[in-house]
Amino acid sequence: TRTPVNVTVTGAAGQIGYALLFRIASGQLLGQDTPVRLKLLEITPALKAAEGTAMELDDCAFPLLSGIDISDDPNVAFDGASVALLVGARPRTKGMERGDLLEANGGIFKPQGQAINNHAADDIRVLVVGNPANTNALIAQQHAPDVPADRFTAMTRLDQNRAYSQLAAKLGVTVSDIRKLVIWGNHSATQYPSLAHAEVNGKNAAEAVNDQAWLENDFIPTVAKRGAAIIEARGASSAASAANAAIDHVYDWVNGTAEGQWASAGVVSDGSYGVPEGIISSFPVTSTGGEYEIVQGLDIDEFSRGRIDASVAELVEERDAVKGLGLI
Ligand code: NAI
Repeated sequence: TRTPVNVTVTGAAGQIGYALLFRIASGQLLGQDTPVRLKLLEITPALKAAEGTAMELDDCAFPLLSGIDISDDPNVAFDGASVALLVGARPRTKGMERGDLLEANGGIFKPQGQAINNHAADDIRVLVVGNPANTNALIAQQHAPDVPADRFTAMTRLDQNRAYSQLAAKLGVTVSDIRKLVIWGNHSATQYPSLAHAEVNGKNAAEAVNDQAWLENDFIPTVAKRGAAIIEARGASSAASAANAAIDHVYDWVNGTAEGQWASAGVVSDGSYGVPEGIISSFPVTSTGGEYEIVQGLDIDEFSRGRIDASVAELVEERDAVKGLGLI
């Protein structure tokens, strides 16, 4: 039997944690031949709730779950981790300025980056879910100088999955008829879900839609504002769909993207497509198992250029803000 892979989940007692942990333990994160050991990180007041979730995980008797550790110390929780899902974050509360939000999250993601640097396994792969995800990922990455920068990623897969669903409904097809529909930029309202290179049953998606007004006034805002629509409807933010996207992101990263498919992920820019080097921005990516690589050589039309530039400008502002606060 294979040795278990250590998977660290932060914010384990939160609502995404509750939707995520059972799927990891059932083998959906890494595959049905890989046993996992869960390492849960929570803040001290939430440790008891995390223990309750661990009791339920025990009660599932998952054959692939080899153990659960719970801690409020990042140095313990990231010890030996090969996969880290950074879900816990400080949400924006009423009246909170952006600077306060970034500062509060810097207080979380800086020590976590340091703990990953000092304690994680050599093959560590990090997915940041907690918002502002791209910039939180940047903060953690900047405090882990011994870890290759491309091991730090931010989640835009939920946005991609939302886009798949919206496009399928518009065209009366199923999501499996769609390929290469991806998100560029920030996981925020400025994100750019792009039909430019997407395919529907082998045909270009933008041509299949043939409706620029729908694209600009309906599709893009619906995808970008879906999080708010879920809160409005459910009275709570997306949790199961966010957990599902985290599973998709890591599964594809580790096992490879399907033939002819692209994924979306916030990855450290190498300067591709004019995105400044070093910021964590969403790109179309592929993996053959282990590394996400930015899809190269795409033509960027004028409309796409404007949208990508606007979202990237926001990321640059966020980076400069955290720099100004001394967080990176
Ligand atoms: P939640 O509030 O239910 O749970 C967050 C948990 O994190 C809480 O249990 C809290 O105690 C814990 N936590 C806070 N600080 C921590 C720290 N320093 N170390 C460890 N744990 C800590 O929130 P929920 O719904 O689970 O969402 C978590 C994050 O995911 C939020 O920031 C949310 O905005 C973000 N999110 C991101 C999405 C994406 O597409 N990238 C989609 C949906 C949510």
